[in-house]
Amino acid sequence: MGTAVNTDYLPEKKYEALAAQQYNLVTAEHSCKMAPLQPEQGKFNFTGCDEIRDFALTKVKGAFRGHNLCWWQNYPAWVQSLTPMEKRQALINHINEVGKHYGSDAFAWDVVNEAISDDSNETMRRSVWYPDVKDYIDVAFTTARKAFPAEVKLFYNEYVYQQTSKQLHRLKAERMYDLVRGMMDRKVPIDGVGLQMHIFYDFDDAVWLKAFMERFDALGLEVHFTELDVSFKEGPDGKTPGKIVPFDAQRQARIYADLMKVCLEVNACKNFETWGFTDKYTWMGTNARPLPFDSDYQPKAAVGAMLKVLTNGQDLQETTVV
Ligand code: XIL
Repeated sequence: MGTAVNTDYLPEKKYEALAAQQYNLVTAEHSCKMAPLQPEQGKFNFTGCDEIRDFALTKVKGAFRGHNLCWWQNYPAWVQSLTPMEKRQALINHINEVGKHYGSDAFAWDVVNEAISDDSNETMRRSVWYPDVKDYIDVAFTTARKAFPAEVKLFYNEYVYQQTSKQLHRLKAERMYDLVRGMMDRKVPIDGVGLQMHIFYDFDDAVWLKAFMERFDALGLEVHFTELDVSFKEGPDGKTPGKIVPFDAQRQARIYADLMKVCLEVNACKNFETWGFTDKYTWMGTNARPLPFDSDYQPKAAVGAMLKVLTNGQDLQETTVV
């Protein structure tokens, strides 16, 4: 059971205590991305990422998950002015240094994040990395395999639920499968796929999702839910993106419970992680109320519903929360 944690809020006692009490896996919401880690070329600042690692390993006494080594966002500005050859070298260098510093502290790293385009006409997302470094995904994974100890699992992380139409969800899912399959065919080292799962109140794809996850299971890969949240606002599918819709605790609880069931039923699913845990601090905005705990750190119906699934339908006593 995982959550993203943000160094900005750790000084808040209730925030820190609830994360430590309820979860046993932690990812940094910001601090381990390339921009904060390497603000100047060749000059690394591991402070924030170390803080999250230490919190995960010593306070939570759980697992630390690394996010991420390469993304089309949150790269340092200096990357932009590099030539394609220099970008390739910078990517290799970044991964090598992060590998050297963290070793096996994180049990898994998202090596590449969101490489696939949302545009129906092209497969790969154009970015600071692509097409300048055409094979950047292979380069990143191959480098990571050498840079980190063998037990560290290498993940490709992607969203498949934020496109403008369901048709595009499906297309993107196929692209993701093909990308991963292609990597495996080329013997590029990969251990798993991360499904971000930034979803909305009208999510009704649990059955489809389970089948999608089973396809990765059949490839021998792990599947992680890496960034789950269930927002009560219009997503890109809605007519008015961003517009808040009335909160429905039971509906949200059912979605969380269904996804928990899916994760338990699919052999490959090894991590059930939300992108934060309290509505007080969420990238979707507090009003979207996407997370299992409310903005006063009280459990919402989703918490009880997930616990029920985890305990085979037995009702649990209300959880006592700090
Ligand atoms: C987001 C953070 O939550 C925001 O606070 C930040 O401004 C941008 O990044 N997919 C990812 C995450 O893989 O790293 C993103 O996190 C959310 C989307």
